[in-house]
Amino acid sequence: MKSKIAECFNRSAATYDQSCELQERANFHLIEFLKPHRTAFNKVSDLGCGTGNSIKHSLNALACDEIFAVDFSKTLLKTAQNKTEDKKIIFINQDFEKKIFKANSLDLIYSNMSFQWCKNISHLFNTLSKQLAKHGILAFSCVLEGTYPELYLKNKFHTSDRILNMLEKNGFKLLSYETDTITLKFDNLMETLKSIKRVGASVKTYDKQTKGLITLNQLKEKYQVLENKLIYKIGYFIAKKAHEN
Ligand SMILES: C[S@@+](CC[C@H](N)C(=O)[O-])C[C@H]1O[C@@H](n2cnc3c(N)ncnc32)[C@H](O)[C@@H]1O
Repeated sequence: MKSKIAECFNRSAATYDQSCELQERANFHLIEFLKPHRTAFNKVSDLGCGTGNSIKHSLNALACDEIFAVDFSKTLLKTAQNKTEDKKIIFINQDFEKKIFKANSLDLIYSNMSFQWCKNISHLFNTLSKQLAKHGILAFSCVLEGTYPELYLKNKFHTSDRILNMLEKNGFKLLSYETDTITLKFDNLMETLKSIKRVGASVKTYDKQTKGLITLNQLKEKYQVLENKLIYKIGYFIAKKAHEN
């Protein structure tokens, strides 16, 4: 499953930057949401850095001594790497659900629009909390349940309640949280569907037993009802490590 998700993102490398309006908007919002809490950090990790847009925004808005840019898609990571010669950015081709950094070593874990593909969000938060330093901050945005591409993809996105519960259960104290609905408009059905694919988000995380295929006609009906719009519900979360673990 993991390698299939990474493969989907690998295929999007050539089109990602031209089609990532949603991710860009979420990125700007997440940085603004983080700024009132803290703006200077020593060690920062950007999880699911993709083509490096989030690193660029974080560098412009925050003071960071070292940034570890992590992604399991080799081609997206390479694209990010080719955009910069900045020595304080270190690129790591890894699955961020695994423990990558030493315990208590990171001051900020930042992630824009990457956690929605993670099935075991409780395990992820537990792993991240261990890697964060005392008073370290976790700032992330992700797609939530209630987003329209899930009609097409049949993926189950997390609810904000589940995320909030899992943060608390895994040693985080919530500092700020909000949701936003972003609507993207397209000229026709094909463009609407292609927009999902161009950013690698045609990933399917449901298992093969999931029943109830959506036929093309049903799909057209749904999207015509939506007038070639995609409606995304995005959650923004800022939390700090509550205690040592
Ligand atoms: C929608 S893109 C967001 C990219 C970037 N943060 C941005 O704002 O443009 C999601 C990224 O997360 C990466 N990703 C998803 N799950 C991952 C995992 N478990 N480990 C590492 N990277 C992951 C994908 O390869 C992809 O580059």
